[in-house]
Amino acid sequence: MVNISTKTLSAADLAKAAKMLQDGKLVAFPTETVYGLGADARNGTAVAAIYAAKGRPSFNPLIVHVPSLEAAQELADFDDDALALAQAFWPGPVSLVAPLKAGHGLSSLVTAGLDTVAIRVPEHALARDLLTLAGCPVAAPSANLSGQISPTTAAHVLSGLQGRIDGVVDDGPCAVGVESTIVATNPARLLRPGGLPVEALEAALGHPLGRDLTPDKPSAPGQLTSHYAPRAQMRLNQKDGALMLGFGPVDGALNLSRSGDLLEAAANLFSMMRQIDDMADGDTLISVAPIPMTGLGLAINDRLSRAAAPRSGGATTG
Ligand code: TXA
Ligand code: MG
Repeated sequence: MVNISTKTLSAADLAKAAKMLQDGKLVAFPTETVYGLGADARNGTAVAAIYAAKGRPSFNPLIVHVPSLEAAQELADFDDDALALAQAFWPGPVSLVAPLKAGHGLSSLVTAGLDTVAIRVPEHALARDLLTLAGCPVAAPSANLSGQISPTTAAHVLSGLQGRIDGVVDDGPCAVGVESTIVATNPARLLRPGGLPVEALEAALGHPLGRDLTPDKPSAPGQLTSHYAPRAQMRLNQKDGALMLGFGPVDGALNLSRSGDLLEAAANLFSMMRQIDDMADGDTLISVAPIPMTGLGLAINDRLSRAAAPRSGGATTG
């Protein structure tokens, strides 16, 4: 998987990118959350190539991207909660896990042999156009090497996967900046906090959402605890430090959002984690300012605490 030539494509090359997906190639593309590494989800060889390119353990299932709820319902059975959430939030930054439907046609590698599948209809215009043109369900984990921070620009994608994938469509930075919220249905429960706040999900459901955030259990989604691994050690909820990642009034080398805006902080999170990791040399500790646990703050704190977790040394997901 090394040293294939990776083409950088633009929005003008979408038909070409769609053809590459149809031909079983690996193409990274932007969504409103993060860049995904796409492959035809029905093509087992192409899906296997995703795992190989990322160096990802194969027990970890992938999210399948489709252009519409109708396309999603060809793959999985949606119960009332799943339908309510899809109607309220698709297209958008939430993935729904639902039971596979007979005749779904997906490679079993996509679901890692589970009888459920995680599906998402992204809102990003280019992503939706690409999915429509490709005409196949597209499996797409975040387009980073396993264990590294999710990419929010095409340059981030290339820094990890250049020479390992066939192409990347560059359409600028991702607006949301953290991965989708993942909700299992039947019964509805939160598997991963993400780009859509839990408060919004609960308001649409009309009842509280259960939680199933069991870390270190690869068949349940969440991820292993140490997932986003900067080289430098990080400490959270700090008021000061030699190398500060600030938020609001706590200033530092970089600031996620001086005005304390959680949307801005999410959009900046992964870029700034990369930048501050590059600024840290030797034993420098990265200190991160406190971030409130409301709205997107839940997802931001989740990603930061994974980055700050002691390294497990074992396999990571994502
Ligand atoms: O925003 C996102 O979700 C991005 C963009 C590219 O769409 N994708 C992404 O995918 O973050 P990935 O592969 O890095 O994360 C997929 C997560 C994993 O934690 C996995 O365990 C969970 O989804 N997952 C996938 N299928 C599942 C299933 N059938 N049941 C439970 N969890 C599942
Ligand atoms: Mg990931």
